[in-house]
Amino acid sequence: MALSLAHTLFSLLLLLPTSAVAQTNGKVTVGRSLSTTDSSPWVSPSGEFAFGFRQPNGSDFFLLSIWYDNIPDRTIVWYANGEKLAPRGSKVNLTADRGLVLTSSQGEELWTSSDQSQLAGAVASGVMNDTGNFVLEDSNFKNLWQSFQHPSDTMLPTQIMERGGVLSSRQSETNFSKGRFQLRFRQETGNLVLNTINLPTNDPNGPYYQIDSTAGDLNTSNSGKQLIFNASGYIYILRENDERITIEQESLPTGNLYFRVTLNFDGIFTLYSHPKTSAGNESWTPIWSVPDNICQDIPGDQSMTGVCGYNSVCKINPKDRRPICECPKRYSLLDPNDPYGSCKPDFIQAGCKEDELNSQRSLYYLEELTNTNWPFSDYMRLPTFTEENCKNSCLQDCMCAVAIFSTNNICWKKKLPLSNGRFSENDGGKVFIKVRKDNSTLPGPSFQNPVGKKKNQDRLILAGSVLLGCSLFVIFILIAAICHGFFYKKAVSKIDRNGVDMESGEEDKAILTDWAYDCFQEGTLDVLVGYDREAMDDMEKLERFVKVAIWCIQEGPSLRPTMRKVTHMLEGVVDVPIPPCPSPFNTT
Ligand SMILES: *[C@@H]1O[C@H](CO)[C@@H](O)[C@H](O)[C@H]1NC(C)=O
Ligand SMILES: *[C@@H]1O[C@H](CO)[C@@H](O)[C@H](O)[C@H]1NC(C)=O
Ligand SMILES: *[C@@H]1O[C@H](CO)[C@@H](O)[C@H](O)[C@H]1NC(C)=O
Ligand SMILES: *[C@@H]1O[C@H](CO)[C@@H](O)[C@H](O)[C@H]1NC(C)=O
Ligand SMILES: *[C@@H]1O[C@H](CO)[C@@H](O)[C@H](O)[C@H]1NC(C)=O
Ligand SMILES: *[C@@H]1O[C@H](CO)[C@@H](O)[C@H](O)[C@H]1NC(C)=O
Ligand SMILES: *[C@@H]1O[C@H](CO)[C@@H](O)[C@H](O)[C@H]1NC(C)=O
Ligand SMILES: *[C@@H]1O[C@H](CO)[C@@H](O)[C@H](O)[C@H]1NC(C)=O
Repeated sequence: MALSLAHTLFSLLLLLPTSAVAQTNGKVTVGRSLSTTDSSPWVSPSGEFAFGFRQPNGSDFFLLSIWYDNIPDRTIVWYANGEKLAPRGSKVNLTADRGLVLTSSQGEELWTSSDQSQLAGAVASGVMNDTGNFVLEDSNFKNLWQSFQHPSDTMLPTQIMERGGVLSSRQSETNFSKGRFQLRFRQETGNLVLNTINLPTNDPNGPYYQIDSTAGDLNTSNSGKQLIFNASGYIYILRENDERITIEQESLPTGNLYFRVTLNFDGIFTLYSHPKTSAGNESWTPIWSVPDNICQDIPGDQSMTGVCGYNSVCKINPKDRRPICECPKRYSLLDPNDPYGSCKPDFIQAGCKEDELNSQRSLYYLEELTNTNWPFSDYMRLPTFTEENCKNSCLQDCMCAVAIFSTNNICWKKKLPLSNGRFSENDGGKVFIKVRKDNSTLPGPSFQNPVGKKKNQDRLILAGSVLLGCSLFVIFILIAAICHGFFYKKAVSKIDRNGVDMESGEEDKAILTDWAYDCFQEGTLDVLVGYDREAMDDMEKLERFVKVAIWCIQEGPSLRPTMRKVTHMLEGVVDVPIPPCPSPFNTT
């Protein structure tokens, strides 16, 4: 009595501001319905599990689900409409002919538990059982449908999976769409496998974890019959001959504990425990998880990517054996909200076209990484190379994104996108990732607003050729002059002398500087100098000169360097920092 009173008070606290706590014998008769606006779910007799609507973190929509109702986490253990969340105002009805039917307030059917042929109008009631199983019964209490037979990503004690059963991971902790990982209790053999699938299809790749119940022979007496999660928290395959193969035979903690086993969104299958009576500060404790190292265990020759997206590197967190994905230096996440997604270079990869005109060496350098590999991205194997040869070979090869110089003097060249990246302590070889020397090719905001640029583009290229298509010495002198404040007059008068019919004036000045800056940003200095051979032969020097020139024409006088600094920069005595855009656009 005291216990149930305590429980009621607890439920009241959880469900505030609720006017009426749901009746808790767990039974729901046909004809009842539950709306997203109802605050009282259908609760099991003990109050431990509830069935109803939950709002995933950060979403305006609702998920029809079952959860632990008396721990602060209110952990979701089953869900129905992960692919298509229900808008506010949706209802789930308990019907005689089709079981649970979820419809939006507009009348759109979002999900149903069964079709008419399965139930034949026989459903009499639904029961939220104390095991966490939601059951549809006929008038003779026969089970017609159970959530335990249609699991999502979690199994609970007393739950049994028959051959052919599947668990699917979700996309992320808060996105309940189908993810890339599956647990399958295979129909043919009763083997238990974890595998990735090629979304959006269901097509499975080779397993990254497997328990063979038949051990290779097809003796039916030892093939797996059921996957059983028993009441004390052990999970085992029960063979036809009643033998048991227990997963991770470790002895389990005892006491007043909840257990659950979940295929996490990152592909790790984990058994957790949680104290039933809670001081409010406990959380789920992992007891065991498989596989031991998912970064290594996903068969890269079969899956297009590993746990992490393309160009990313997978590491195992030693604390919980779960994967962490990291982008290599000078790479960043394609989607900043998806830490497990692909990484993109923060610089534009020059195509091989650009490389005909420039030497790759001048545009790129190699960043050394340790203990990293993308073992399935090789396109060239060069035996008996030296480290230096290996580095040069990659620098000069427009296809090459990464070179690995292994301890046995083999040079491996790798191409983008890099897949199945992983960190491993003992690789030993050296890893070189090819990155651009500066960030100059990132499309900046100036690309979105090319003021009058298009109409003058051809003329300006001509002007640029005239202006700068001359020897490096002349450019040097010109820059010195520009930096003395003669830029606009000199430039325009030089253009005039060469007979280019270009109107002088503020607008053209702005366009010309913008265009020069764009050429610099895009890394197309060859265009700026009109493909002048001499200038292009020393791109590094040219690049330095142009950077100095752009510093000199900054609109803010305080940004412009002193003449002394300019001379030093031109001579290469000091480094030239990347200049900002000379005339930032007015966004009004
Ligand atoms: C909800 O999401 C925010 C940000 O994504 C996070 O800070 C917060 O802890 C989340 N809350 C829960 C209950 O998961
Ligand atoms: C669900 O039940 C509500 C009333 O509880 C009813 O108005 C609605 O028509 C029912 N929808 C379906 C699909 O049975
Ligand atoms: C309902 O829960 C009880 C224990 O509370 C259990 O014995 C029974 O098997 C469960 N029924 C179903 C159908 O899960
Ligand atoms: C969940 O992820 C899927 C696949 O990435 C995406 O299409 C969907 O919009 C996401 N849903 C939510 C609610 O963010
Ligand atoms: C099948 O398996 C059982 C027990 O695992 C064993 O006793 C029997 O000899 C096997 N039969 C064959 C044909 O391998
Ligand atoms: C669960 O399985 C373990 C290992 O097979 C066994 O020791 C234990 O007694 C079982 N518990 C129940 C309640 O069947
Ligand atoms: C929870 O709080 C209690 C008392 O405040 C403390 O004794 C216990 O160690 C805490 N447990 C955890 C897991 O933090
Ligand atoms: C390139 O940009 C990144 C990120 O904005 C920055 O961390 C890095 O220092 C830049 N590198 C150079 C060479 O400017």
